[in-house]
Amino acid sequence: MRKMYLRFFVLACISSHSLLDVCAQGCFARCEWSEWESWTTCSQTCGSTEKKNTSRGLCCPSDLTDLESCVEYCNLDIADHYDEADCGRECYNDGTLSSAGCVCTNRFYGMCCDKRLDICEAIPTDVVFILDSSLSQTQTEFQKQLDFVGKFVDNVDVGPTAFVLSIITYSSTAVVEIEFDDSNSKQSIKEQLLGIQFRPGATYTNKGLELARSLLSVRMERRPGMYTKKIAFVLTDGVGPEVSHRELNAIASPADDYSLSYVYTVESFDALHTVLERLIDVSCEKCQPKSLTDIFLLVDDLPDSRMTVTEWQIAVNGLATIVDGLQAFNDENGQRVGIAQFPDTNDPIKQLSLSNTLRKDDILHFLQVMAHSEDTCRGTKDDCVLKSNITSIIQNVIDNQFTSSFGGRDDARKVLLVVSSGRFSNITEVAEQMRNIRLHTDVDIFDIGPGGDVDMRGLKSLVSEPSRVFVVKEDSDMASLDGLQAKFSYIACG
Ligand SMILES: *[C@@H]1O[C@H](CO)[C@@H](O)[C@H](O)[C@H]1NC(C)=O
Ligand SMILES: *[C@@H]1O[C@H](CO)[C@@H](O)[C@H](O)[C@H]1NC(C)=O
Ligand SMILES: *[C@@H]1O[C@H](CO)[C@@H](O)[C@H](O)[C@H]1NC(C)=O
Repeated sequence: MRKMYLRFFVLACISSHSLLDVCAQGCFARCEWSEWESWTTCSQTCGSTEKKNTSRGLCCPSDLTDLESCVEYCNLDIADHYDEADCGRECYNDGTLSSAGCVCTNRFYGMCCDKRLDICEAIPTDVVFILDSSLSQTQTEFQKQLDFVGKFVDNVDVGPTAFVLSIITYSSTAVVEIEFDDSNSKQSIKEQLLGIQFRPGATYTNKGLELARSLLSVRMERRPGMYTKKIAFVLTDGVGPEVSHRELNAIASPADDYSLSYVYTVESFDALHTVLERLIDVSCEKCQPKSLTDIFLLVDDLPDSRMTVTEWQIAVNGLATIVDGLQAFNDENGQRVGIAQFPDTNDPIKQLSLSNTLRKDDILHFLQVMAHSEDTCRGTKDDCVLKSNITSIIQNVIDNQFTSSFGGRDDARKVLLVVSSGRFSNITEVAEQMRNIRLHTDVDIFDIGPGGDVDMRGLKSLVSEPSRVFVVKEDSDMASLDGLQAKFSYIACG
């Protein structure tokens, strides 16, 4: 009896790893799980999609040599022998986890967005200047472009932790005039600039863009764990209609999630200094991140350029995305939002002045229930356009909505964001009038075109440069608004 007992009930711990360390874990009762082993080690404990795991063994009769048959014999669940857990998915400071690690906001960086750059330290930035050397430029205009780059270099920190520059010129072909080289200094770049020749030929902007794309694509992160901003800077007398903001952005946005990118185009070289101000703000002496911004959203619902139902939906969702993304909404020093739809200027239901105190959710609701206007204009189409055309509406908003009586704040940056199809009946006329309006205001104007059928020329006519036009092709395309969103917080120097 006693022998039998022994033969039947000699127990073996079947560990999850090996049958050789039988009983090494000191199990004592049949069909009882042993202690959990210690967790496998994590290479990172935050900002990681990695998992750790542990397992435990089972006490089995010694003639059952594998876990499966023992689990079955004991009538247990094999899943109970193994457990896993996240190593630590946290990204700090509003960072978000992607497969590549934490994507940090603002000036945070590091594996878990746990480090922050000093306020005036430059974010590492790769800039490629794409200069027009074609026959559409005169020698003087070309020299202006070189002078601009020179001025840029004078104003920024150049080096591996700050700005690194490359210069491409294009005419019939595109040529790399200055390679990306982390060891370049201000001095060496200025010397190389002197050697760049004007070589007139046909205007193949695309070749310049293509070359810029390939240069930027091989540039790597320069500060560990911190994205490197990549900026392509196209200088030309006017980027053709075939090169939209999207395409320009695409060359500066590599496939990885780390890079914010901004593309500036300048239609008039006289605007260069404005762009310069915006580009160097990250490295200037006394600068502060700011979000004190009054944003007025203007929905163009004129009969002339009325959006289709689909466009309307995209437009509303686009605006909701923008509002939803405002980090400092209604903070004392944050953003305020006003909304109006025109025509129907006097319908209070369709207007929200900057003095409104609605919460973000209420604003989002307001946007969602906005609908096309009733056609209040009963005259001929021409009459209606005259009574309320896009330029007179914009003028009206600029003159009134940003004033203190409507809730505008004196020291706030003022932004007007127009949503429109851009299908104006006389774009030339709109462009002329807008140029004049912009000349007399400090309100920054941007626009959003919803859908694939918008008129780019019309949209461009409202704003000072093509990079201020944001086309959202469809509802799933809201990422194209990222660049716009970035403009509602800014770094001001003074
Ligand atoms: C448990 O973690 C180790 C170490 O990370 C890994 O090699 C192993 O594949 C994991 N086991 C399972 C079943 O996933
Ligand atoms: C458009 O406006 C311009 C400038 O005001 C004018 O010269 C032109 O005749 C207009 N075109 C049409 C088709 O009305
Ligand atoms: C808009 O209306 C104003 C005032 O009636 C007029 O002077 C202007 O020419 C119109 N502009 C367009 C683009 O129709």
